[in-house]
Order: sequence, then C-alpha cells, then structure tokens
Amino acid sequence: MSDDDRIRNPELRSRVMSAQDAAAMIPSGAAIGMSGFTGSGYPKLVPQALAARIEAEHAAGLPFRVSVWTGASTGPELDGALSKANGIEFRLPYNSDPIAREKINRGEMNYFDMHLSQVAPMAWQGFLGPLDTAVIEVSGITPEGELIPSSSVGNNKTWLERARQIILEVNSWQSPALDGMHDIYYGTALPPYRQPIPLTHPNDRIGQPHFRVDPDKIVAIVKTDVPDRNAPFSEPDAVAEAIAGHLLEFFRHEVTRGRLPGTLLPLQSGVGNVTNAVLAGLMHGPFDRLTAFTEVIQDGMLDMLEDGKLTMASATAFSLSPEMAHRFNADAARFRGKLVLRPQEISNHPELVRRLGCIAMNGLIEADIYGNVNSTHIMGSRIQNGIGGSGDFARNAYVSIFMTPSTAKGGKISAIVPQVAHVDHISQDVQVIVTEQGLADLRGLSPKQRAKVIVENCAHPDFKPMLQDYMARAAQTSYGKHAPNILAEALSWHERFVSTGTMLEEPRAAVETGPVLVSSNG
Ligand code: COA
Repeated sequence: MSDDDRIRNPELRSRVMSAQDAAAMIPSGAAIGMSGFTGSGYPKLVPQALAARIEAEHAAGLPFRVSVWTGASTGPELDGALSKANGIEFRLPYNSDPIAREKINRGEMNYFDMHLSQVAPMAWQGFLGPLDTAVIEVSGITPEGELIPSSSVGNNKTWLERARQIILEVNSWQSPALDGMHDIYYGTALPPYRQPIPLTHPNDRIGQPHFRVDPDKIVAIVKTDVPDRNAPFSEPDAVAEAIAGHLLEFFRHEVTRGRLPGTLLPLQSGVGNVTNAVLAGLMHGPFDRLTAFTEVIQDGMLDMLEDGKLTMASATAFSLSPEMAHRFNADAARFRGKLVLRPQEISNHPELVRRLGCIAMNGLIEADIYGNVNSTHIMGSRIQNGIGGSGDFARNAYVSIFMTPSTAKGGKISAIVPQVAHVDHISQDVQVIVTEQGLADLRGLSPKQRAKVIVENCAHPDFKPMLQDYMARAAQTSYGKHAPNILAEALSWHERFVSTGTMLEEPRAAVETGPVLVSSNG
C-alpha cells in the first residue's frame, strides 16, 4: 500500500507537511492529548520535533513547557524526547519512560497518576481543563475522512473530540489489516444521562471501526513509517514459571470445585514478564476456549489465539516484542474476528469488568501481611510506573489476583512487609496473592487469618521468621486485636532498606508463634 493509499481523502492530503512545521503550531503552555498505550500507537515524529523546538527555545532563554495527556505509557520518541528536553510541565496518566520517571522523582515534573478508565470521563467532566492540541497516530484516513486507528486506541476518541486543533501522524509501518479490528463506542455520556453499556460478551461490537473527526480541526498531517517501541520480553525464569504453576493449580482447583467454568472467565492480564509467563503457562495448561477482556495484548495472547487456546481477545492496545510485532504485521488478517481494540474507558470499564466476571491478574511492588497492595511507589515515595488499569480490574473482577517474586533487589527486599508504604489496592480488593513460594487465597478470611496465610504461603524463607516474629509481638502489644500492628515498627523495614540497603536484620531471639492456619477455602 502506497503512502497516498493511506490518506484516501483528497482534501486532507493537502494538509501533509513536515513534523517540524506541525510542531511549530503547538503553543507554549498547551495541554496536548497524545495517542499511545503501552508503547504502541504513539506519535513518533511530532513529539521529537517539538522537543527540538523546546530545546532551541530554552537555549534562547525562553520558557516553553507543555502538559502531556496520553492513553498510558508511550516510547522514547515521545516521553523520552520531551522529558529530556525538560519540556513536560505536567503528565497523565501511566508512564514507564525512565527519563520521565527520573524527572518526576526529582520533583521536576508534575505527574497525575489515575485509573485508566477514568481519564476520558474526567476530561469530559472538565476537571482537567481545556485541551489545546491532539497529536494522534492513525494507520490511515478513509475516503470519507474518517480515521483508521493504529495499534492502540487509548483515549484518542476523546482527544479528537475535545482538542481545539488536531495533528495526525499517518504511520505506514502499521499493518493495513488493522482496519476493522477496532470498535469505537460513541454511546458514553455524563451523568445524569449515562446509559448501560450494551456489551455482554467480550467479543461484542457496540461501536464503529473508525474515529469520527471534524475535518476543519485537522491542521497538519505528518507521514511516518517508524515502528512501535515493542520492548522484548525475557524468557520466563524459574520464579515466573513457579508463579504461573501455582496459578494454574489454583484455576484447576476452582474448576473442580465448580467455582469457575472449564473455559474459565474472561482473562485480564497485566503488564510485565511474570504475567506473560502466566499466559505461557495457560497455553500449555488444560483450559480451552478461553477469552480475554483485558487492557493490552501481549505476545502470550497472540500465541494462544494462533493456537486456538484463546478464541478471542478484547483490549485497547498491543504490547508486543519486536519479533511478535513483525509476525503480526506480516499477516495480521488472520487475527480478523479474533481481536477487538476499544477505547480504554470501555476496555477497562468497571461496569463491564463486573458484568463479564473477569479474572484479574496484575503485578505488585509489595503487599502487606493483611493483603493491602502497593503497585506504584518504591519505599513509599518513588513512583515506578503508575496504577494503570490494575484498579479498574481488581476492584470489579470475579477474582482479583496479584503476583510478584517474593523478593526484589537480589533478595534484599521482601515483597511481603508488615505494612505497605503506599496503598493502591486495599485489602478488600485483593483476593489472591501469588509468589514463587506459593499462593494465598484470602477470600472469606479475617485480617489475622489473612496474615497467617500470606506469610506462611508467600513470604520468602529469609523474611518469614521476621514476619512471624512481628505478628507474634503485634498480637501481644497492639492497641486493637482485629488487625494487630506495631505502629512504630510497621514501616521500619523500609527505613532499614533506605538507611542500610537491605530489609534483612540481624536475627533476633525466636518467639513462639503457634501453629499456622492455612486458607479456610482450601
Ligand atoms: N521494592 C523496591 N523495588 C522493587 C520492589 C520492591 N518491593 N519490587 C520490584 N521492585 C523494582 C524492581 O527491582 C525493578 O527495578 P529495576 O527496574 O531498577 O530493576 C522494578 O521495581 C520493576 O520490577 P519488576 O520485577 O521488573 O516488575 P514487573 O515488570 O513485573 O512490574 C510492577 C511490576 C508492579 C511495576 C508492574 O506490574 C506495574 O507497573 N503495575 C502497575 C500497573 C498495572 O498493574 N498495570 C496493569 C493493569 S492492566
């Protein structure tokens, strides 16, 4: 397909220009709604041209910074380039770019971390202020002037509708076979006019394949053929395989008990290597005719779709390795009918997650003995990425699972601590915790029962005695006996790491802890 075939509306063809000319139209102080979700479908040329312009303005002693709103994480050409130029004043939502992360943690960039399903509604409610420019990657423009989305949908529908002006990047690297895989729902409204979303199966199509757009707002079109970021996945290691093994055993157990159907329920799988390993485990497991209602489609899901293990997957974006992206682009048409990409307010919608009964599987930074989960902040203050969609899914899932290796930083940090130093998911939203040590099924347990199961089943042996000692002393001295804690000590493990570089302490005298209760749901 030639470049001109990508822009099939003759009138819009006349607005093609260079990225530099397009970036020159963005004023200082603008709020810019960019496309992009987990490294896919983000604009690649205009943000770099804008970064170069910002650097030139700064060199001339002129202030120039912008606010950047996206779907989720993007790539080095966007977050990396603009952060390096010190050009971002304010950023939302999820970010995984290392330069942007460093700026945020040095206090040089304001970052608003929020549930991904809530970004579009909050923009419509007007809480985020006016949106000046939308910079959106698309894979083509139809003869009628509608936009064919690319490898992510994210918040693009909202940015296109809310922005004063629109800049498009038409990316010919994206497979033309993406056309028809999207389902853009235009039925959302603000209260008191909100209506039920008419989706009752992950495969339902309730919208249209293309974005509508007001052609008069399109001020520039830039052509590109730059690939998505597409970070490679590491091969599952023994820890990831052990976590996947525990989870598969749990699913078998739930099916045997009649608490899950043999086809399970729609899967949501978070980002990262561990969740990808779980998908690899499912690929070789006993469950068939699976479905996914999730946020991102990773390598493991495409493998399962090809194999027939997974009948279909609904998401808002791809997050593929370069190898898998190449394989997908070479023959994307064979996934037609099996993949649906939706706006993130729909892919992550609490109403739909609850209705469909998703199985939510997400990573965590640390969990405490009562099952509160920190997914975002290291040592309570350094943001890692953001909450992403984990809250959208965890609170509303049929079963909400969090998984992690039991230690971090070469064994110096325990993922299970007396108290988390930041809370993203309260204990009521955390039903199962899995580490390579084992699985804690927390459903129906009181705080003290939860603590015993989490420590016994999930903690690393280097930290288990320390946790048992803490629990035993807390049980004797705590102000209340419902969820015993030693206030002065609850965050002392984090303090010790910050001051000494390890959470491990010199062994103290053993305390009698009594028998350990294992899950009452066993
Ligand atoms: N204390 C300190 N550092 C920790 C830690 C802990 N308890 N646990 C992990 N880390 C560090 C790791 O050492 C690593 O640091 P490095 O980059 O310097 O090597 C970093 O955090 C990432 O950890 P890693 O083990 O590579 O994690 P991951 O790729 O499995 O991701 C999360 C784990 C929690 C960061 C990730 O799942 C996330 O961002 N979750 C929130 C968003 C989400 O769930 N989205 C999906 C919803 S659809």
